[in-house]
Amino acid sequence: MSIEPRHFMDLEDFEPEVLKKILAHAHELKAQKFNPPQILEGLSLAMMFDKRSTRTRISFEVGMKQLGGHTVILNVGDIQLSGAESLEDTANVLSRYVDAIMIRMSDHERLEEFASYCKVPVINGMTDKSHPCQIMADMMTIEEKLGGVQGKKITWLGDYNNVTKTFEQAAPIFDFELVISTPEDIAPDIANDHVSYRESPNDAVWNADVVVTDTWVSMGQEGKSIEKFMPYQVTPELMSEAADSAIFMHCMPIHENEEVSPAVLKTPACVIYDEAENRLHAQKAILAWCMKHAGVTIGAE
Ligand code: CP
Repeated sequence: MSIEPRHFMDLEDFEPEVLKKILAHAHELKAQKFNPPQILEGLSLAMMFDKRSTRTRISFEVGMKQLGGHTVILNVGDIQLSGAESLEDTANVLSRYVDAIMIRMSDHERLEEFASYCKVPVINGMTDKSHPCQIMADMMTIEEKLGGVQGKKITWLGDYNNVTKTFEQAAPIFDFELVISTPEDIAPDIANDHVSYRESPNDAVWNADVVVTDTWVSMGQEGKSIEKFMPYQVTPELMSEAADSAIFMHCMPIHENEEVSPAVLKTPACVIYDEAENRLHAQKAILAWCMKHAGVTIGAE
């Protein structure tokens, strides 16, 4: 009997209760970080990249090893996929060697096609459409810092990109208010009633619990003009419009004096390193959920 692999492609694919259970397990695994349970013992993860990465690559590699598993790193340019070999053959062959595959692939549709051929779980390590592992770590960080996500006001400033789009998916799932503030010419079509748009960054940030931004020049957009984004730079003055307990988040890498001023990074509101650490714990929980077919249990289940 064949078992359908548990892919982790997009947050909108999930019932809220599943994602909340994965997050609960992530907190459990963080509490056990010096004595991690060996729940992935003997299991292998292939990690494929067609773009550079620091956090995604290292956190998945260390996370697998902490839980007793191991990893194989594949740069797309170094394997036959970058030549004539098909997605289908690559997917079928990898499915015979490893227990799960994490991929950073620019083209989301190509990632979905690849996953459709795989017999083992595929995890989206970021595409041009979405970055679900990042937002799981962000939800975990907000839970840690503010005691929960439900009912919070999260303000996104600057560019409208794959990370913004994943926050949009997350808003109805985790029941928070998302306010997006970008230059008017790239204002998004609002996707759901948990999301709104404000052109004015001051209006958007007013009384926010979380202020979040990202680079204005995503990978592959080098050379793009950033002039129109300058009013959306997160500064101490802008942060002072947010709630007193507000936190500042950024998925990194950061471009100081572009999307954020260095002064904000020196304040207690800045939680970027906890956010980066939580990639590790959130992804361990995602790996555990995906590898249920291999007998892995998630948390207290
Ligand atoms: N935030 C993030 O995905 O970082 P990397 O590009 O370094 O993996």
